[in-house]
Amino acid sequence: MERIRIRTPSTRRLLLVSAFAGGLGVAGLAALSAVEAIDWPDAVQLAVSTATLAAVAMTVLTVRRVDGKALRTDRRVKREEAALAGLAGELKGLVAAVAAQTESLAGEGRGHAETVVAALGEDRAELAAHSATLAEHTATLSAHGDRLGEIRSALARIEALTKDKVLPEVRSRGDFGQVEALVDLRALLSPRAPMPRLRGWAASPDVLRLLVERVAIDRPKLIVECGSGASTVWLGYAVERFGGGRVVALEHDERYARASRDLITAHGLESVVEVRHAPLTDWRSFPWYDQAALDDLSDIGLLFIDGPPMNTGHQARYPAVPLLLPRCAADALIVLDDARRAEEREVADRWLREFPELDGRPFPAEKGAMLFQRSAP
Ligand SMILES: C[S@@+](CC[C@H](N)C(=O)[O-])C[C@H]1O[C@@H](n2cnc3c(N)ncnc32)[C@H](O)[C@@H]1O
Repeated sequence: MERIRIRTPSTRRLLLVSAFAGGLGVAGLAALSAVEAIDWPDAVQLAVSTATLAAVAMTVLTVRRVDGKALRTDRRVKREEAALAGLAGELKGLVAAVAAQTESLAGEGRGHAETVVAALGEDRAELAAHSATLAEHTATLSAHGDRLGEIRSALARIEALTKDKVLPEVRSRGDFGQVEALVDLRALLSPRAPMPRLRGWAASPDVLRLLVERVAIDRPKLIVECGSGASTVWLGYAVERFGGGRVVALEHDERYARASRDLITAHGLESVVEVRHAPLTDWRSFPWYDQAALDDLSDIGLLFIDGPPMNTGHQARYPAVPLLLPRCAADALIVLDDARRAEEREVADRWLREFPELDGRPFPAEKGAMLFQRSAP
């Protein structure tokens, strides 16, 4: 709103105007008294009166001007009051509209709130139902937890029993089986010099006893062994004791060929055992004993496959059957050692697939063994 300012003449102005009018009067009167048209005391009195009249006239003029201004201001104020009253009316209308809107919004809000509360009520009911189910499940679980505890302690008892009693017994039975087989071998064959240790890299007594039994029963003319070592000595003794044949051991490693030959010499078995150094050469991408070492081998009655070692290649022993089966007697027995190993089992399965004339059966030796023979006609 525009600010209304009423300008009134200042006292200084009034004084100046009065002084000017008074001055003019005094100057006039002085001039008149100089020409002696008037006495100077009358001139002074007239001057004071004129100055007073001028001041009064100025005051009246000023008051009138101020009055006029006040009137105009009053009219303007009235106009603005009327405009303000109009604005106040509009404002009231707006306030009423806002109040109506607020009321409607509040109504809507109340509706939503009621819906939410109702929904919450349903959820609460559902939640309560779930809580009840959960409580049931918790109770069941804790019951199972108790049973689980019982089962765990029973398992711990079984584990302790297995560790303290069963395993030692099984082990001692296994060891006992090997001791029994070794005692049998020594009783049957009475070695003349210290024998190399068995198991580990060498064959186990149980499989050696099987071989010696077969020599005793079948009296094969030719025994071929893939991989020389302790078994070569035991087979030499078996041939010497039960007669009728010879042993050819194929050895890929020259050092072990020499060591095995030394053993044969130490036991005086040179007449029945030959250790052949046959370096590994490629046969259909398998590194296997040089085939030149097989040239004179025929009518093999017992074939013991205990080499080449598995670190020489994948399914390292596979070529033995494809290459030596044609050199075997019709009733030859083929013994594959280490059949507990996955690779040897793969080899055995492959032979049975590729040579349908062969029957295969496992032999329960410490390292696992598989026996193969041509089926009876
Ligand atoms: C599985 S071992 C078995 C050797 C043999 N058939 C036996 O039962 O004693 C196979 C290979 O072990 C190696 N070998 C031979 N004498 C060994 C010895 N004293 N120590 C470690 N390895 C030997 C040879 O290269 C042999 O071909």
